[in-house]
Amino acid sequence: MDVSPEAMGGRPGSRSSTFLIASGKSSLPSRRRLAGYALAVALAPLLTLVLVILRGQLNLTTDVLAFLVAVTAVALLGGLGPAVLEAIAGSLLLNFYFTPPMHRFAIAEANTAAALVTFIVVAVVVSLLGDREARRTRQAAAAIAAAEAARPIAEADRTRAALLATVSHDLRTPLAAAKVAIRCLRSRDIQLTAADHGDLLATTDESLDQLTHLVASLLDMSRLQAGAMPVFPRPANLEEIIARSLRDIGPQARAVKLSISPDLPQVMADPPIMERVIANVTANALRFSPDRSPVLLVATARGERIELRVVDRGPGVPLGDRDRMFSPFQRLDDTGTTSGVGLGLAVSRSLTEAMRGTLEPEETPGGGLTMAISLPARPRPAPAYPGSPGA
Ligand SMILES: Nc1ncnc2c1ncn2[C@@H]1O[C@H](COP(=O)(O)OP(=O)(O)O)[C@@H](O)[C@H]1O
Ligand SMILES: [Mg+2]
Repeated sequence: MDVSPEAMGGRPGSRSSTFLIASGKSSLPSRRRLAGYALAVALAPLLTLVLVILRGQLNLTTDVLAFLVAVTAVALLGGLGPAVLEAIAGSLLLNFYFTPPMHRFAIAEANTAAALVTFIVVAVVVSLLGDREARRTRQAAAAIAAAEAARPIAEADRTRAALLATVSHDLRTPLAAAKVAIRCLRSRDIQLTAADHGDLLATTDESLDQLTHLVASLLDMSRLQAGAMPVFPRPANLEEIIARSLRDIGPQARAVKLSISPDLPQVMADPPIMERVIANVTANALRFSPDRSPVLLVATARGERIELRVVDRGPGVPLGDRDRMFSPFQRLDDTGTTSGVGLGLAVSRSLTEAMRGTLEPEETPGGGLTMAISLPARPRPAPAYPGSPGA
């Protein structure tokens, strides 16, 4: 990724001008600068006290080096200002307590003066380097933050590109098929038999069905994402809902077998929405079922919930792919043109959750996929107590 100095919180300009700006104004947070001043103020007298106590054992070089360590520590914590303060205080204290003539602000030897000047120069250089290091660290942190902030955008871009590719392919394929079929039907140059006519009309019909399905899924998805899909769960008869969903699926649904508990309570569901969920999941199961192996719909009551399992004996879905199959526009290995665009399960799960239900994949014992839909059962009426009205 391209990160400009401006983006990193720096300013445009050459390295040296950046350095000058850095040295002019500390890049450390003010909390650290304050802590640096506090350390400088505390350290100078403390160090002097320790060095005065140890005066017999140490010479001037050790005293100067000890102050240099103090200045370095202050520079690293608080940057230039506190370090210069510490350097000035250090040079005055060294001058007063440790260089001859003692206990006067005066320097007797040129050598000592040179040592003190060197001390101040080193202090300033160390603090400038510390300051620059802090600035670099901050710039690096800003660059990392910028990269982190850009990541979701990059991911969204990739998803959108994949989405556009899928949708445009899936829209164009049936459109092109229908267009070609209709052009043939209208053409005067082509001699068509009655069977050709039938085939071309069937192709057109199938393509338009595919388009209808795709547009409906896209509309559902965008309504769900915009929070504009009203869902009204109410007591409903699951068996009737299943019957209507199978009718929606068409002749293929003949391969579906039902097993519904005889005294199944009513389910709290929005019937037209529940119908779509069952139709989506059952259509998938039929698509993946091997020939002559029926898809089973099993409805049972468990506690306060109603569970509907759509059981197939197809190839199943590996554990690692089971989350991915519920993401919009995700199809696993099958990318044939006759199937959907990978929206069915994403829409179905959102719709089920909007009805306070769950949609979870399970392994069919012996191989295959089972989709388990769980919804609240109609609440049982409160027991009537003796003396209460109606008892
Ligand atoms: N019963 C099933 N058995 C095996 N794989 C399935 C089953 N149902 C769904 N899948 C996988 O999950 C993917 C997503 O399903 P879905 O969202 O309904 O999309 P679509 O049906 O449009 O492909 C399918 O493409 C398929 O790979
Ligand atoms: Mg599907």
